[in-house]
Amino acid sequence: MNLYRPIYHFMPQRNWMNDPNGVIYYEGKYHLFYQYNPNDYHWNTMHWGHAVSEDLVHWEHLPIALFPSNDLGETHCFSGCAVISDDGTPKIFYTSIGENERNARDGAQQWMAESHDGMTNWEKYKSNPVLTLDIHGDIEIKEWRDPFVWKEDDYWFMVVGGSHNKRGCALIYKSKDLKQWEFLNILHEGEEEIWECPNCFKLGDKYVLVYSPNDKVKYCIGTINSDYEFVVESKGTLDYSGWEGFYAPNSLIDNFGRRIMWGWLTEESRGDFKGCGEWSGVQSIPREISLKNHKLYMQPVKELEMLRKNHKRYENVCVSKGWIPEIKGRALEIIVEIEITDELTEFSVDVLCSGDHKERTSIKYNSNDESFCVDRNKSSLSTLCHNSKLTGTIKLEKGETLKLHIFIDHSILEVFANYRESISTRIYPIKADSENIMISVLKGDNLNVKSFDVWEMTSIWE
Ligand code: FRU
Repeated sequence: MNLYRPIYHFMPQRNWMNDPNGVIYYEGKYHLFYQYNPNDYHWNTMHWGHAVSEDLVHWEHLPIALFPSNDLGETHCFSGCAVISDDGTPKIFYTSIGENERNARDGAQQWMAESHDGMTNWEKYKSNPVLTLDIHGDIEIKEWRDPFVWKEDDYWFMVVGGSHNKRGCALIYKSKDLKQWEFLNILHEGEEEIWECPNCFKLGDKYVLVYSPNDKVKYCIGTINSDYEFVVESKGTLDYSGWEGFYAPNSLIDNFGRRIMWGWLTEESRGDFKGCGEWSGVQSIPREISLKNHKLYMQPVKELEMLRKNHKRYENVCVSKGWIPEIKGRALEIIVEIEITDELTEFSVDVLCSGDHKERTSIKYNSNDESFCVDRNKSSLSTLCHNSKLTGTIKLEKGETLKLHIFIDHSILEVFANYRESISTRIYPIKADSENIMISVLKGDNLNVKSFDVWEMTSIWE
C-alpha cells in the first residue's frame, strides 16, 4: 500500500504530469488534458495527456492527445486551451517549442490542432504557426506561452503569458475566425519576471484575470477598457502555496454555467524524498469559482460528495486543551466550524498525526494577525522533503465563524477557509499510523467547535 499515492485526485497511471490544459465541457462530458511526459516521472518531452469524466469525479484515461512533431522540429507541446469553433470543430491552441534549448524563452510559437472524431484524435493545423512573436512588432516579448481563448460577441479573444522588459505580463489578441489574429495590447503586467498560464473570464459583469507568476497564483478583478487594458478593482491570492502546492490553474465553464478550476498540485515539496514511486504530479479537486464582495470564492464542486462514506458529526464540543475525534485515515474530508471569541487566540487542527504526535501537519488560525497557515514543520520525520510553513490571511466579519473545509488524500492537503482563501500543499509523513486528527488550543481559553463533520473518502478508480 503506497502511503503517498492519492486515491480521489486525478492523476495518470504513471509518469510525470504538470499543468491542467484545455479543460472543456463538450457534449455532456468534462475533458481534462494535461502536460504529460509518457517516458519518465521527471519533466521532459511535453505531450498532452487526456482524460474524460461524466461526473467531474470519476475519470477515464484516453489516448495521448498531442505528441511533439519531431519531424517539424517540435520538441514540446506546452500548455494551452481547447475551444469549439463556430463550425463545431474542437480546436486546441497550445505553445509549440522548437529544437533550440532557448526556444521557450525566445522563440515559442502558438499552434493549433483540431479533432474530427469528437476529441480522441488530434491533427495539427497545416498552416501552423498560428501566431509568432512577430505579431508584436517592435515590442519584445520573452517567455511567451500558454494561450487561453474565449469567444465574446462576434470575436475570439486570446490571452498569452509572457515577459516584457523583465516584467511578467498577459498579452491580448483578437480574431474573427481563430486563424488570423491581431495583437491588441499588453492586457496587464506585474512586478514578477514572468507570468504563466493566464486565464481571463467573465464572472457576472466583471473580468477575472488569473496568472501564475512562478510563485503563488494571483488574480485581479476588474474591467477591460477600450484600449484592452485591464482596469483592476481588486486583487488577491488564489492559493497561498505556489510551488509548494497549487500552480498553473486552468478553468472551464460547464452547461450549468459554473466556472470550474483545477490546479497542478506540484511535487516540489518531495525534495529528495524517494518514497513515492514512479509518478509525479496530481490535479487538485475541481473548485467552482464565484465572485462576492470583490473577492473570488472557491467551493469544492458538489459532485465530490458522492465519494463520502462513514460520516461522523460532532456538535458544540468544548475543547480546553486538546480533542481527538474518533476517526482516522489518509483519505478524509473534514468540515469544521469554530466560534472565534475574544478569549481564543490561536488554535490548531492537526491532521495526518501519528499516535505519538511526532508527525503531524498543523492547520493553524491566529486571531491576532488574522493569519491561517499550514505548518509542515512536523509533517514528516523525513528530513528530505520540504517542511516550510505556508501562511495566508483570513479576515472574518464580526461574529463570523471560521469554517475550514479540509481534504486529505495521502500526500495531499487542500484547505479552504470560509471558501475565500485556500492553501493546497503536499506532505509525506513516513509513519504508518500518521492518520489521526487532533484539535488543540495553542493560546487562549476554551475553543467551541460548533460542528465537526468528517467522512472517509472512497477511491475514484473503483
Ligand atoms: C507552467 C509551465 C507553462 C508551460 C508548461 C511546460 O507550469 O511552465 O508555462 O507551458 O508548464 O510544461
